[in-house]
Amino acid sequence: MAISLAPLTPHFGAKLTGVDIARPLTDAQFGEIRAAFDEYSVLVLPEQPLTDEQQIVFSERFGILEGTRALNPGSGTPFARQSNLDIRTGETIPADDRRMFYQKANMLWHSDSTFKAVPSLCSVLSAREIPPAGGATEFASTRVLYDSLSEEEKAEFATLVIEHDFVYSRGTVGFTLSDDEAAKFPAARHDIVRTNKNNGRHSLMIGAHAKTVVGWTERAGRQFLEDLLSRATQPNLIYRHEWRDNDVVIWDNQAVLHRATPYDTMNHRRLMQRTTISSGVPAAE
Ligand SMILES: [Fe+2]
Repeated sequence: MAISLAPLTPHFGAKLTGVDIARPLTDAQFGEIRAAFDEYSVLVLPEQPLTDEQQIVFSERFGILEGTRALNPGSGTPFARQSNLDIRTGETIPADDRRMFYQKANMLWHSDSTFKAVPSLCSVLSAREIPPAGGATEFASTRVLYDSLSEEEKAEFATLVIEHDFVYSRGTVGFTLSDDEAAKFPAARHDIVRTNKNNGRHSLMIGAHAKTVVGWTERAGRQFLEDLLSRATQPNLIYRHEWRDNDVVIWDNQAVLHRATPYDTMNHRRLMQRTTISSGVPAAE
């Protein structure tokens, strides 16, 4: 069985078939997956039922897994749980519960973990239970955005540093953290331009956690970041993934943004298990 790739859009994303990631992969097999990841930024792998243990073994081929911090029900494990199901009882969580309110910010365009001092390389999301309608995930490429910049912009951006702040991004949807919770999420600063060391391609690290441009006024920084976000997420540049049972999607947090879309959380069940792999590349300062 040979690995094969089918592009999902003219710009980025590919469907990858011909491999069973629940089984141990040879270095050659993983090398093909890693090369496809570097090239396409988003990989969709259909029909890949995974246990938690199998997901961890596969994810560790990309690097060291991040631990999940407070507030997500997966806190203390390698999993960030995206679900409307109570982790203990399995029952749906009421819509007005703080745990559901917390998830609202996932509907903003973002990259996972940009607020961490060492940001993420990629996320692996496994669809364990999906609703019959809704709950798609949308992707947009900041590599495509970078390639569309003028030469003047590329020169200017090379020196820009962005402050990313989880407390800020949650605040934009009205979710407030207690002082104790907020203390676990100090802001982090990163160069806006990221470079994929395997292929030299550049992208921009922006999204919901990006709060300010260091050294700029708040107003100028917000305008700049919002303008870039709207350029990156034009409807003709998006890939929208409609989930099927046992899909696994891998995305490059340094090259793409993503956002969740709504579903009927009161009447349908959804359980997605995410592992997040660290980039190992420290912050700008
Ligand atoms: Fe996310």
